[in-house]
Amino acid sequence: MLTTLLLLSCAFFSASGEKEKCKVTDKQCILLLSNSVFEKVFEADNNQNVDPMYIEFMEGNFLDLKIKFRNISMTGYNTCKVFDLYWDIEQFLFNFELYCSRISINGQYEISGPAVTTEEKGKYTINTKSYKLMTNTTFELVQTVGNKTVFHVKNFNAKVSPLEKVALHFTNLYNGQEIPSAKFLTQEHWRNIIYTLQDNFATICFRNLFLALNKLFTTLPLEEYLEL
Ligand SMILES: *[C@@H]1O[C@H](CO)[C@@H](O)[C@H](O)[C@H]1NC(C)=O
Ligand SMILES: *[C@@H]1O[C@H](CO)[C@@H](O)[C@H](O)[C@H]1NC(C)=O
Ligand SMILES: *[C@@H]1O[C@H](CO)[C@@H](O)[C@H](O)[C@H]1NC(C)=O
Repeated sequence: MLTTLLLLSCAFFSASGEKEKCKVTDKQCILLLSNSVFEKVFEADNNQNVDPMYIEFMEGNFLDLKIKFRNISMTGYNTCKVFDLYWDIEQFLFNFELYCSRISINGQYEISGPAVTTEEKGKYTINTKSYKLMTNTTFELVQTVGNKTVFHVKNFNAKVSPLEKVALHFTNLYNGQEIPSAKFLTQEHWRNIIYTLQDNFATICFRNLFLALNKLFTTLPLEEYLEL
């Protein structure tokens, strides 16, 4: 299923001459179109903050620990594919699921809390394998000056879930070694740690993604791709 999608989605925009338009009810066609649009957002000349994605600061809590992340750099969103979707043009709903095969996150962290005597600082890496990202969006259809219709995402909810173990590494500043207590935590409790962090990450990532997508949508009038 995924492989077929990959092969077909590349063809959507490159087809010369007459473009195939999707019927609004043809889910399979909309799925291919969505993947083509999604690929376009990662094209090098697009130069958006999507892949790599940079975030200055984020924090999360785990038990009574507060973890601050700075200088966060994320890559791998270009491995994500739209796998399933639901859309209702009358209700202005577009819900979809992405599968991402590899996302890498790195930067600096600080951990503080009652059990931490000296504040722990250092570098961290988070490497995911397969991850499922789900988002429900509401959109509006905007008329452009040339009387074309463009798609614009207004609001979204995001839920994400790891499908495979996530590798977390926290190293200290002094010798670059992994902190034994952190190593234990990240090995044994990676899922709990991820669950406390992933919603914040997902919200920021989707916000950046939709900013870039909304910009891209202004260049893709729906009349050219959909039978409205
Ligand atoms: C942020 O990360 C970049 C790349 O890893 C690094 O060059 C830069 O020094 C970091 N900035 C801070 C404030 O640590
Ligand atoms: C999206 O909407 C569906 C149906 O209403 C719901 O089951 C699902 O949990 C929602 N997903 C998100 C990410 O909000
Ligand atoms: C857009 O539509 C309006 C109203 O239907 C019309 O008056 C106008 O000429 C159209 N503009 C263009 C550029 O087609």
